[in-house]
Amino acid sequence: MSIDHNILFRPFSLKSLNIKNRIVMAPMTRSFSPDGVPTDDVAAYYHKRAAGEVGLILSEGTVIERVSSSNDKNIPHFYGEQALAGWQKVIHNVHDAGGAMGPQIWHMGIMDNHHSGWVPAQPFEGPSGLNRPGNTNGKAMTDADIADTIAAFGRAAADAKRLGFDTVEIHGAHGYLIDQFFWDATNQRTDIYGGKTIAERNRFAIEVIKEVRRQVGDDFAVIIRLAQWKPSAYDNKIAQTPQEMDSWLNPMADAGVDIFHCSQRRFWEPEFEGSDLNFAGWAKKITGQPTITVGSVGLNGDFLAAFKGESSEPSSLEELLRRMDRGDFDLVAVGRPLLADPQWVQKIRDNRTSELKGFSKEALMQLI
Ligand SMILES: Cc1cc2nc3c(=O)[nH]c(=O)nc-3n(C[C@H](O)[C@H](O)[C@H](O)COP(=O)(O)O)c2cc1C
Repeated sequence: MSIDHNILFRPFSLKSLNIKNRIVMAPMTRSFSPDGVPTDDVAAYYHKRAAGEVGLILSEGTVIERVSSSNDKNIPHFYGEQALAGWQKVIHNVHDAGGAMGPQIWHMGIMDNHHSGWVPAQPFEGPSGLNRPGNTNGKAMTDADIADTIAAFGRAAADAKRLGFDTVEIHGAHGYLIDQFFWDATNQRTDIYGGKTIAERNRFAIEVIKEVRRQVGDDFAVIIRLAQWKPSAYDNKIAQTPQEMDSWLNPMADAGVDIFHCSQRRFWEPEFEGSDLNFAGWAKKITGQPTITVGSVGLNGDFLAAFKGESSEPSSLEELLRRMDRGDFDLVAVGRPLLADPQWVQKIRDNRTSELKGFSKEALMQLI
């Protein structure tokens, strides 16, 4: 029997976050912010998603104030007068249209050089200089670098609150700086930020979260995005067992995370053997905190296939609704469908399925 999709259209409230439905726009880098400053076109792009009734918009990754936090000069900054003025316009536009939004604050860590040839004025920095096994392209952070980076995450979160955003998301996923500390292949430190267990390699993330929490106070909703996989190791698992997941996530909840955003390529894939629960399902079960699921919702191909040029067609939400109805997760992030179509939410709500578009990579060329 089919489940009513109204389950997606219940409001959700947590601290500063009050949203009209359970649909979240997934953070998606667009690289349309020259020299790190979001333009009016960027503001118009997010405004259209708010007008299209997306419950919560998470911005594209926007980098914190470290010289080498980005490998692309068109990725937005979340520091500096001009960039923050751009973001102020974004959040005003989103609120005008009745939406809610949080920036995804980001430090890329050790990166490959951008194909444009642009490199930051200082070397990339990370736990051990590596962005994947055997590939050094930057320097190991000193204690002073780490302390300044933690402070920069805190300032970005404080600015998000000051500008009027509804929440902030810390980017802890997909092989970037925070995730480079989680992964033993990229964190080979022998000081307090390294160690054999995820409980030890968690320390940098915990300090970032504590500083963010200290800056925004108790009443501002803080989200962290996490993933088991990396672009260089899709089958990787930071937590191999539910016990390891417990020692990874619960200290983050204790440090101040309100919502876990659990990144998967395909939301229906089970996290551990013996249960069909996905990552968001396990994170909720283990921490008791609200979770966001993501990964090929409403599309028949995953986003990595999309980067290789394969198109995806619309697909049924039945399995998603079944899991949501069972209480596996609270919110659902949608990436490519919302990148390609600002009206995706309204079309789903009104059963205008014949009007749903698929996704092809041409959608990446412009801000639709
Ligand atoms: C163009 C593009 C850019 C992305 N940029 C980011 C990003 O900045 N931060 C992030 O956490 N994930 C990023 N992702 C991953 C998405 O947030 C999402 O997890 C992924 O696309 C799966 O969702 P989907 O299948 O609904 O597209 C990006 C994905 C795409 C397609």
